[in-house]
Amino acid sequence: MGKGCFITFEGIDGAGKSTQLAWVKELLVNRGIAVTVTREPGGTSLGERLREILLHSEDAVLPETEALLMFAARREHIDKVITPALARGEVVLCDRFTDATIAYQGGGSGVSIAKLESLERWVQGDLQPDLTLYFDLPVEVAKERINDPRRQDRFERETDGFFERVRFAYLARARAQPQRIRVIDANVRPAVINKKLEDIISSICL
Ligand code: TMP
Repeated sequence: MGKGCFITFEGIDGAGKSTQLAWVKELLVNRGIAVTVTREPGGTSLGERLREILLHSEDAVLPETEALLMFAARREHIDKVITPALARGEVVLCDRFTDATIAYQGGGSGVSIAKLESLERWVQGDLQPDLTLYFDLPVEVAKERINDPRRQDRFERETDGFFERVRFAYLARARAQPQRIRVIDANVRPAVINKKLEDIISSICL
Protein backbone atom coordinates (compact mmCIF):
# COMPACT_ATOMS: atom_id res chain seq x y z
CA MET A 1 0.00 0.00 0.00
CA GLY A 2 1.19 3.50 -0.81
CA LYS A 3 1.06 6.45 1.52
CA GLY A 4 -1.94 7.90 -0.30
CA CYS A 5 -2.31 11.45 -1.45
CA PHE A 6 -4.36 14.18 0.19
CA ILE A 7 -5.72 16.88 -2.14
CA THR A 8 -7.94 19.75 -0.96
CA PHE A 9 -10.08 22.12 -3.03
CA GLU A 10 -10.59 25.72 -1.95
CA GLY A 11 -12.10 28.98 -3.17
CA ILE A 12 -14.76 31.55 -2.35
CA ASP A 13 -18.37 30.46 -2.83
CA GLY A 14 -19.15 30.36 -6.56
CA ALA A 15 -15.52 29.73 -7.66
CA GLY A 16 -16.40 26.33 -9.16
CA LYS A 17 -14.20 24.10 -6.97
CA SER A 18 -16.85 21.39 -6.44
CA THR A 19 -17.34 20.99 -10.21
CA GLN A 20 -13.58 20.69 -10.65
CA LEU A 21 -13.38 18.16 -7.81
CA ALA A 22 -15.93 15.96 -9.62
CA TRP A 23 -13.83 16.25 -12.81
CA VAL A 24 -10.62 15.23 -10.98
CA LYS A 25 -12.43 12.27 -9.44
CA GLU A 26 -13.43 11.04 -12.93
CA LEU A 27 -9.86 11.53 -14.16
CA LEU A 28 -8.44 9.39 -11.34
CA VAL A 29 -11.13 6.70 -11.40
CA ASN A 30 -10.65 6.31 -15.18
CA ARG A 31 -6.98 5.62 -14.45
CA GLY A 32 -7.95 2.88 -11.99
CA ILE A 33 -6.96 4.85 -8.90
CA ALA A 34 -8.89 4.36 -5.63
CA VAL A 35 -10.41 7.67 -4.56
CA THR A 36 -12.23 8.88 -1.44
CA VAL A 37 -14.33 12.01 -1.96
CA THR A 38 -15.29 13.96 1.13
CA ARG A 39 -16.04 17.49 2.32
CA GLU A 40 -15.84 19.99 5.17
CA PRO A 41 -17.62 20.86 7.22
CA GLY A 42 -18.93 17.30 7.09
CA GLY A 43 -17.59 13.93 6.05
CA THR A 44 -18.74 12.04 9.18
CA SER A 45 -22.23 11.73 10.67
CA LEU A 46 -21.35 14.18 13.47
CA GLY A 47 -19.61 16.46 10.95
CA GLU A 48 -22.69 16.55 8.71
CA ARG A 49 -24.86 17.47 11.72
CA LEU A 50 -22.42 20.26 12.60
CA ARG A 51 -22.53 21.36 8.94
CA GLU A 52 -26.30 21.74 9.17
CA ILE A 53 -25.92 23.96 12.26
CA LEU A 54 -23.06 25.99 10.76
CA LEU A 55 -24.72 26.62 7.40
CA HIS A 56 -28.37 26.94 8.39
CA SER A 57 -28.63 28.00 12.05
CA GLU A 58 -31.26 30.72 12.52
CA ASP A 59 -29.38 32.01 15.57
CA ALA A 60 -26.38 34.30 15.28
CA VAL A 61 -23.17 32.30 15.83
CA LEU A 62 -19.95 33.94 17.06
CA PRO A 63 -17.04 33.62 14.60
CA GLU A 64 -14.97 31.95 17.35
CA THR A 65 -17.75 29.38 17.87
CA GLU A 66 -17.83 28.77 14.12
CA ALA A 67 -14.08 28.17 14.12
CA LEU A 68 -14.21 25.78 17.08
CA LEU A 69 -17.06 23.79 15.51
CA MET A 70 -15.16 23.60 12.21
CA PHE A 71 -12.14 22.17 14.03
CA ALA A 72 -14.30 19.80 16.11
CA ALA A 73 -15.81 18.39 12.91
CA ARG A 74 -12.31 18.25 11.39
CA ARG A 75 -10.89 16.20 14.27
CA GLU A 76 -13.53 13.52 13.70
CA HIS A 77 -13.09 13.71 9.95
CA ILE A 78 -9.31 13.25 10.09
CA ASP A 79 -9.51 10.30 12.45
CA LYS A 80 -12.47 8.47 10.90
CA VAL A 81 -12.19 9.22 7.18
CA ILE A 82 -9.03 10.96 5.95
CA THR A 83 -6.28 9.06 7.81
CA PRO A 84 -7.79 5.59 7.18
CA ALA A 85 -8.19 6.33 3.43
CA LEU A 86 -4.60 7.58 3.19
CA ALA A 87 -3.42 4.47 5.05
CA ARG A 88 -5.19 2.34 2.41
CA GLY A 89 -3.11 4.17 -0.21
CA GLU A 90 -6.06 6.08 -1.68
CA VAL A 91 -6.23 9.58 -3.12
CA VAL A 92 -8.43 11.71 -0.83
CA LEU A 93 -10.24 14.58 -2.56
CA CYS A 94 -11.57 16.93 0.11
CA ASP A 95 -13.90 19.84 -0.68
CA ARG A 96 -12.44 22.48 1.71
CA PHE A 97 -10.16 21.99 4.74
CA THR A 98 -8.27 24.24 7.20
CA ASP A 99 -7.42 26.92 4.63
CA ALA A 100 -11.18 27.64 4.56
CA THR A 101 -11.19 28.30 8.32
CA ILE A 102 -8.19 30.62 7.98
CA ALA A 103 -9.88 32.43 5.05
CA TYR A 104 -13.52 32.58 6.28
CA GLN A 105 -13.30 32.76 10.09
CA GLY A 106 -9.85 34.42 10.07
CA GLY A 107 -9.86 36.72 7.03
CA GLY A 108 -13.62 37.13 6.66
CA SER A 109 -14.72 37.36 10.30
CA GLY A 110 -11.55 38.54 12.03
CA VAL A 111 -10.73 35.57 14.31
CA SER A 112 -7.03 35.67 15.30
CA ILE A 113 -5.00 33.76 12.69
CA ALA A 114 -2.47 32.82 15.41
CA LYS A 115 -5.24 31.14 17.43
CA LEU A 116 -6.50 29.30 14.34
CA GLU A 117 -2.97 28.13 13.57
CA SER A 118 -2.58 26.81 17.10
CA LEU A 119 -5.86 24.86 16.68
CA GLU A 120 -4.51 23.63 13.34
CA ARG A 121 -1.40 22.22 15.06
CA TRP A 122 -3.46 20.66 17.85
CA VAL A 123 -6.09 19.06 15.61
CA GLN A 124 -3.91 18.03 12.67
CA GLY A 125 -0.51 17.20 14.17
CA ASP A 126 1.71 16.51 11.16
CA LEU A 127 -1.15 16.09 8.70
CA GLN A 128 -1.21 18.64 5.87
CA PRO A 129 -2.62 18.26 2.37
CA ASP A 130 -0.04 17.12 -0.18
CA LEU A 131 -1.66 19.56 -2.58
CA THR A 132 -4.24 22.33 -2.26
CA LEU A 133 -5.95 23.68 -5.37
CA TYR A 134 -7.18 27.20 -4.72
CA PHE A 135 -9.63 28.40 -7.40
CA ASP A 136 -9.29 32.17 -7.61
CA LEU A 137 -12.10 34.34 -8.94
CA PRO A 138 -13.02 38.04 -8.52
CA VAL A 139 -15.84 38.43 -5.99
CA GLU A 140 -18.24 40.07 -8.46
CA VAL A 141 -17.91 37.12 -10.90
CA ALA A 142 -18.35 34.54 -8.12
CA LYS A 143 -21.44 36.33 -6.79
CA GLU A 144 -23.11 36.12 -10.22
CA ARG A 145 -22.60 32.37 -10.18
CA ILE A 146 -24.25 31.80 -6.79
CA ASN A 147 -27.78 30.90 -7.74
CA ASP A 148 -31.15 31.56 -6.18
CA PRO A 149 -30.79 33.91 -3.14
CA ARG A 150 -33.64 32.09 -1.35
CA ARG A 151 -31.56 28.88 -1.26
CA GLN A 152 -28.33 30.50 -0.06
CA ASP A 153 -26.71 29.37 3.20
CA ARG A 154 -25.46 31.70 5.97
CA PHE A 155 -22.05 32.17 4.35
CA GLU A 156 -23.34 32.75 0.82
CA ARG A 157 -25.50 35.62 2.15
CA GLU A 158 -22.38 37.49 3.38
CA THR A 159 -21.42 40.89 1.93
CA ASP A 160 -19.01 41.52 -0.95
CA GLY A 161 -16.60 43.04 1.61
CA PHE A 162 -16.58 39.76 3.54
CA PHE A 163 -15.74 37.78 0.39
CA GLU A 164 -13.02 40.28 -0.57
CA ARG A 165 -11.38 39.63 2.82
CA VAL A 166 -11.80 35.85 2.39
CA ARG A 167 -10.15 36.01 -1.05
CA PHE A 168 -7.31 38.18 0.27
CA ALA A 169 -6.68 35.69 3.12
CA TYR A 170 -6.60 32.73 0.70
CA LEU A 171 -4.10 34.54 -1.53
CA ALA A 172 -1.92 35.47 1.47
CA ARG A 173 -1.88 31.85 2.61
CA ALA A 174 -1.00 30.69 -0.93
CA ARG A 175 1.92 33.14 -1.00
CA ALA A 176 3.10 31.85 2.42
CA GLN A 177 2.88 28.15 1.40
CA PRO A 178 3.60 28.08 -2.35
CA GLN A 179 4.96 24.52 -2.26
CA ARG A 180 1.53 23.20 -1.17
CA ILE A 181 -1.06 25.68 -2.48
CA ARG A 182 -1.48 26.14 -6.24
CA VAL A 183 -3.49 29.17 -7.35
CA ILE A 184 -5.74 28.33 -10.32
CA ASP A 185 -7.31 31.16 -12.32
CA ALA A 186 -10.99 30.14 -12.29
CA ASN A 187 -12.04 32.95 -14.63
CA VAL A 188 -11.18 30.99 -17.81
CA ARG A 189 -12.89 28.24 -19.85
CA PRO A 190 -13.39 24.92 -17.96
CA ALA A 191 -11.29 23.04 -20.56
CA VAL A 192 -8.30 25.28 -19.76
CA ILE A 193 -8.73 24.62 -16.03
CA ASN A 194 -9.07 20.87 -16.62
CA LYS A 195 -5.79 20.72 -18.57
CA LYS A 196 -3.95 22.63 -15.85
CA LEU A 197 -5.36 20.33 -13.13
CA GLU A 198 -4.32 17.22 -15.04
CA ASP A 199 -0.74 18.53 -15.31
CA ILE A 200 -0.51 19.47 -11.62
CA ILE A 201 -2.04 16.25 -10.30
CA SER A 202 0.07 14.07 -12.58
CA SER A 203 3.22 15.71 -11.25
CA ILE A 204 2.27 15.38 -7.56
CA CYS A 205 0.15 12.29 -6.98
CA LEU A 206 0.40 9.90 -9.95
P1 TMP B 1 -19.30 24.63 0.52
O1 TMP B 1 -20.43 25.52 0.08
O2 TMP B 1 -18.07 24.82 -0.27
O3 TMP B 1 -19.73 23.24 0.70
O4 TMP B 1 -18.85 25.15 1.98
C1 TMP B 1 -19.73 25.43 2.96
C2 TMP B 1 -19.50 26.81 3.55
O5 TMP B 1 -18.76 26.68 4.76
C3 TMP B 1 -18.75 27.79 2.67
O6 TMP B 1 -19.51 28.99 2.58
C4 TMP B 1 -17.47 28.07 3.43
C5 TMP B 1 -17.80 27.71 4.85
N1 TMP B 1 -16.66 27.21 5.63
C6 TMP B 1 -16.10 28.04 6.61
O7 TMP B 1 -16.56 29.17 6.80
N2 TMP B 1 -15.04 27.56 7.33
C7 TMP B 1 -14.53 26.31 7.16
O8 TMP B 1 -13.58 25.92 7.85
C8 TMP B 1 -15.12 25.47 6.14
C9 TMP B 1 -14.58 24.09 5.93
C10 TMP B 1 -16.17 25.96 5.41
